Amino acid sequence: MKSYKVQPVAAVAGRVRVPGDKSISHRSIMLGGIASGRTQVSGFLASADCLATLEACRAMGVVVERHAETALTVHGRGLHGLAAPAHVLDMGNAGTAIRLSMGLLAGQRFQSVLTGDASLRSRPMERVARPLRQMGAAILTTDGKPPVTVQPVAHLTGIDYVLPMASAQVKSAILLAGLYADGETAVTEPAPTRDHTERMLRGFGAQVHVEGRRVRLAGGQGLHGARVDVPGDISSAAFFLVAGALAGAPGLIVENVGVNPTRTGVLDILRLMGADLTVHPRGSAGAEPVADIELRASQLRGIAVPEQFVPLAIDELPVLFIAAAAASGETVFSGAAELRVKESDRLAVMAEGLTRVGVPNELAADGIRIAGGQRLRGAEIDSHGDHRIAMAFTVASLLADEPLFIRDVENVATSFPGFVETACACGLDVSRA
Ligand code: S3P
Repeated sequence: MKSYKVQPVAAVAGRVRVPGDKSISHRSIMLGGIASGRTQVSGFLASADCLATLEACRAMGVVVERHAETALTVHGRGLHGLAAPAHVLDMGNAGTAIRLSMGLLAGQRFQSVLTGDASLRSRPMERVARPLRQMGAAILTTDGKPPVTVQPVAHLTGIDYVLPMASAQVKSAILLAGLYADGETAVTEPAPTRDHTERMLRGFGAQVHVEGRRVRLAGGQGLHGARVDVPGDISSAAFFLVAGALAGAPGLIVENVGVNPTRTGVLDILRLMGADLTVHPRGSAGAEPVADIELRASQLRGIAVPEQFVPLAIDELPVLFIAAAAASGETVFSGAAELRVKESDRLAVMAEGLTRVGVPNELAADGIRIAGGQRLRGAEIDSHGDHRIAMAFTVASLLADEPLFIRDVENVATSFPGFVETACACGLDVSRA
């Protein structure tokens, strides 16, 4: 089992870049595969998660040429051109890959079986299967989890669905199935979530109507291959944004980051905590706005995090818990029960790690209360195979006086290949142990 040894350092500085956005990379392959004509993708995230999506599309007959690590051409087969896969589709650790694929596969004329690693096989899939069944899909889960079997049906029918939880994966799965359904499909969200599917569908020529929290599209719309320039992933940038807020001296700039407003809760929360943060807009990459983000060290203050920011910062919460450990006073996160069904139970696993490094905290069903103003003691931390936990505790070394040993870090490669090199480039002292 691979580990990191992270030595304490006092400051980070310089300019760093992070790999392409994971959510957008998955969608570029899926939409490219069912579009007609070619889709050119640049800035693709060549991480284990997105490569699982790529291999699944190849298994269904989509030709994907890789010109370079991050540059691809997807030769789309049209809305009804996918072929039956000859084997089970293994989505590895990737929730987005399996859930969006369930939507995409619900309307195909062949059977497919989807599975994943031990973490993915423990995650809830009925939240996607249930609305798809209402559309007429035939989906079997294994006690609500993967493996998932999607059987062919004669046709799907559009539904008007109110999501019980804020989940872009569920919303996106329903919209993808909606392309194959008779009539109109509508999804209403309880709170805004990332809208990359809606933006990219439009970029591929589909008509998507958004009215407040309701998204709708008509079935049967064909997509046309398009160009997708994937910006840097704000979820990967978040580790360096927090590092810069804790110890950026003179400052740390993360370049070319996607700043779609449905993803920037991390910036809002850091600002409320008093971070010295400047966004330098750089225009847009296709449908997605992009910026360089500059952070300088400042004394953060504890806050009650407004719940409306939680779905907009859902993947950034683990590293924001580290910011909370540094802040003066107490920080309270609530409305974050979704963290319990991510790659690990992120509330429980972060609480365990914070306790080990000496940060007092109190767990709730849907959040955590963290007592800030702490120096951390050296400790061994178990990431439970969760990439974002491993990277969050790497940043925690800026608050520590002794080394941290972070166990079970292989899965950092699911979202952030090159993390150790990027971390070292801005001054963190991480070595593979
Ligand atoms: C994602 C949506 C979020 C997020 C995940 C990526 C997406 O999941 O946590 O990392 O690409 O749609 P939920 O929809 O389960 O909140």
